[in-house]
Amino acid sequence: MEIILAENHGFCYGVKRAVEMANEAANSDGKSYTLGPIIHNPQVVGRLEDKGVSPVQEVSDIEEGTMIIRSHGVGPAIYEEAEEKGLNIVDATCPHVKKAQQDAKSVIEDGMTLVILGEKNHPEVKSINLWANNEGIIIEDEESAEKLQIVEKMGVVVQTTFSQFKFNSIIDILEKKSKNLKVFKTICNATQERQNSAVELARNVDLMIVVGGKNSGNTNRLAEVCRDVGCTTYHIETSTELQLEWFNRVQTVGVTAGASTPDWIIKEVIETMKDFAELLAAEGQEEFKKGNVVEGTVVQVEDER
Ligand code: F3S
Repeated sequence: MEIILAENHGFCYGVKRAVEMANEAANSDGKSYTLGPIIHNPQVVGRLEDKGVSPVQEVSDIEEGTMIIRSHGVGPAIYEEAEEKGLNIVDATCPHVKKAQQDAKSVIEDGMTLVILGEKNHPEVKSINLWANNEGIIIEDEESAEKLQIVEKMGVVVQTTFSQFKFNSIIDILEKKSKNLKVFKTICNATQERQNSAVELARNVDLMIVVGGKNSGNTNRLAEVCRDVGCTTYHIETSTELQLEWFNRVQTVGVTAGASTPDWIIKEVIETMKDFAELLAAEGQEEFKKGNVVEGTVVQVEDER
């Protein structure tokens, strides 16, 4: 059985940075808190909790110590509240998100109508809008873009994980909504690269294993794009969910992981699959010799969503 790891998988730059910053805070004096779970991965959150970094919902839940802002970012009022309380702030907002926040702010300051392309209830989108006094109009799809009024000047900021495909078609619509359209293309490539690699791999293997939090939007999306190309796909959080019967008569398995999945979880999954390969070989499926891990060779593919 050949196990092929997608070329782009696992932690993105912003998540890696946020987890490193949280670990540093854990090792320093005093208690540390994250506003909401630092990332959408229960195992990483659990490990940090063991080190004394607790997730809380509000600044008011923190008496003293360090407040860590996660990669999705927060609005300006949270910084003010934390400063007033004398908390030490560790700002792990991803620099890509920070840029989107600043772009949104500048759109409003320049007297333009702000349109934010993204999911209404996503914390990142909320944080972007808060930097623009919550004046942005949030657009999730083409249908809502069509309904927009024609305005003199329009500035568009995009959720960093927004689909490139959807972005293109919505911008086509917005071009008809304002003569002066300024687009800040704040999409980050990390999500797209992971999806492209997953699709390419899913087209060439018998089975895909997608590793990541069940509450992680980008991991769920990875599983979805693999299924969309007709590949049998299992989404698991950890190696304990793997089942031997999934691998019966399977010759090639692709593995990918969401942007919030740490390397140690991916390694455990691969090790368990290697053990399964040995077991299946021992049961007489000779073609399933010891699992062989190779890095995927992935070419750029068109977004098919
Ligand atoms: Fe940042 Fe992109 Fe990751 S915006 S948090 S590097 S997906």
